[in-house]
Amino acid sequence: MPVEAAPAQPRRRIPRPWQDRGGRFSPLRAAVLALAILPGALLLLDLAAGALGAEPWKAATRQAGALALQALLASLAVTPLRFVADWPKAATLRRMLGLVALGYAVLHLLLYAGHQGWSLGAVATEIALRAYLTLGFAVVLGLSVLGWTSTDDWQARLGRRWKRLHRAVYVLAAGGVLHAFLQSKARADGAALLAGLFLWLMLWRALPGRWRAHPPALAGLALAAAASTALVEAAWYAVATNLPAARILAANLDLAAGMRPAHWVALAGLCVAPLPWLRRAWRPPGRVERGPPLGHGARRS
Ligand code: HEM
Repeated sequence: MPVEAAPAQPRRRIPRPWQDRGGRFSPLRAAVLALAILPGALLLLDLAAGALGAEPWKAATRQAGALALQALLASLAVTPLRFVADWPKAATLRRMLGLVALGYAVLHLLLYAGHQGWSLGAVATEIALRAYLTLGFAVVLGLSVLGWTSTDDWQARLGRRWKRLHRAVYVLAAGGVLHAFLQSKARADGAALLAGLFLWLMLWRALPGRWRAHPPALAGLALAAAASTALVEAAWYAVATNLPAARILAANLDLAAGMRPAHWVALAGLCVAPLPWLRRAWRPPGRVERGPPLGHGARRS
């Protein structure tokens, strides 16, 4: 008897970045997408207009690298935002921000190739010989795997392994931060700030569940992340430069010396801390905001 072929599974349509899961236009997703890609578009316009100084490709490479890491950290900030601001809809932004990060990382690599005169041999040699570039390349490859497997189809195909695979994003973000430090030499302010924000995001995940939207605990978290930032920055200067680490640490405690990365991390964290109170005061009584179910892009992480 002829065996009947199983009916082909209809392929699930992948919603456009500005659409929700039902394929409807989402003003929130469209606005966040526009805000996320605007700096990249302006950067390319500046490059084309010759407005990036004496070494335009180098300047553009730096800026695209910073944008890649910022977008990656923004994607990691979605889950905390969802809990702290009690805003389930935020979960719908995570995959999109992760893909924006991948886009900026690829742009960063392309601009670097432009800086090398489009000599792919030179690019490959530099990546093979310089540890911080090898690390950056590994992060691009890792982000590409996560981007490729970010669809609902892949999620269904991989089942529980999908979540384990996508936890690699924390390692990739840490790799991106380390790459930023390694290239920064004696001026590590930008890298230290990104490291501090990354630390806040990781420490938030380490909090017990009941403290994750508890304003006093969040204020404590802000101070802990700031102190860790100061220590990481001082340790970096101690290990990688001849600058006295003790003086860097002292500057971190002294506001009169100007705002250091640790101060910005404390300020950002302290601004976030009262959000649960504000949200409760602001929400009309009895109103429950409906977000997506705990599915793709809405997972706790
Ligand atoms: C093959 C991959 C990569 C290459 C070849 C590369 C190359 C570079 C280079 C050459 C710089 C220093 C620019 C300069 O001052 O001359 C840099 C800086 C940087 N890169 Fe990458 N990178 C790669 C991947 C990544 C990835 C995946 C991320 C983030 C996810 C990233 C984030 C950064 C950041 C944050 C900076 C510092 C920007 C600043 O100082 O403001 N890079 N990268």
